[in-house]
Amino acid sequence: MTKLIHLTDPHLMPPGEPLYGLDPQARLTAAIDHVAAHHGDADCMVITGDLTHWGDDAAYDVLKRELDRLPFPAYPLIGNHDQRPAFQEAFLNIGRDPNGYVQYRIDTRAGRFLMMDTVQEGTHAGWYDQERQEWLKGELDAAAEEDQPVYLFAHHPPFQIHIRMMDMIRLVQWEEVAALLAETRADIRHYFFGHVHRPISGCWRGIPFSTLYGTNHQVALDLGPAEDAPMTHEAPAYNVVLLSDDLTVIHTCPYTYDGPTIDHRNDRNTDEAARAAGRAQVAAQQG
Ligand SMILES: [Fe+2]
Repeated sequence: MTKLIHLTDPHLMPPGEPLYGLDPQARLTAAIDHVAAHHGDADCMVITGDLTHWGDDAAYDVLKRELDRLPFPAYPLIGNHDQRPAFQEAFLNIGRDPNGYVQYRIDTRAGRFLMMDTVQEGTHAGWYDQERQEWLKGELDAAAEEDQPVYLFAHHPPFQIHIRMMDMIRLVQWEEVAALLAETRADIRHYFFGHVHRPISGCWRGIPFSTLYGTNHQVALDLGPAEDAPMTHEAPAYNVVLLSDDLTVIHTCPYTYDGPTIDHRNDRNTDEAARAAGRAQVAAQQG
């Protein structure tokens, strides 16, 4: 089994600068602390973009320092709030495609992770032009040839999520990407994305997808006609993704929760016989 931590949209500012009434660095530090304490056995972390809010060098430095504290590798990709040159200057070890975009592959025991660059200077909308599509097509062909399952990672979703503000800045070339994904022989298992600052999962044209809360601020759940959705202070989260050959399981961890854990073993309705049978079943499955 491969254990992936999916975290998104930290929107880091230079140290000490707040964003929407919150401290993005403190929020990320808490996430990294929590992941290291509870999921130090993970294989890797992927951060699906909007690493920083304005693309400041000092903000990328904060990110680097935080990710260096993890006991496993972290793979960032960029979002519409990032600055590609500043990111690439700070993360020299992160791959790029032949045209200089932040597109790269990671081989894991679960299969091949393909990291897509959907950023276009001058717009918050997602952008995936011909040359980036060529890279993806080549990678998908190679994965199919090598019989590797594929997991896609991008900042922008290509489909509507029915929050109007976010749908207005989804992937512009979504139809071309949809056609490319429909035509490939590759075994695409999941599409992970960021950008929308909400926990959403579903299935698009046969491809399961998921995203989650950002680590700083969130976007209100407003499915009405307004073109602008307010930001909120809903609790942040990261996802723990468990990948095996026949199963994808995604757990969401609201890592700032500091309330009680409640011992329910003395509930009147607890059926000890059923619990014993359950224990035996789990033990048998684990061999
Ligand atoms: Fe964002």
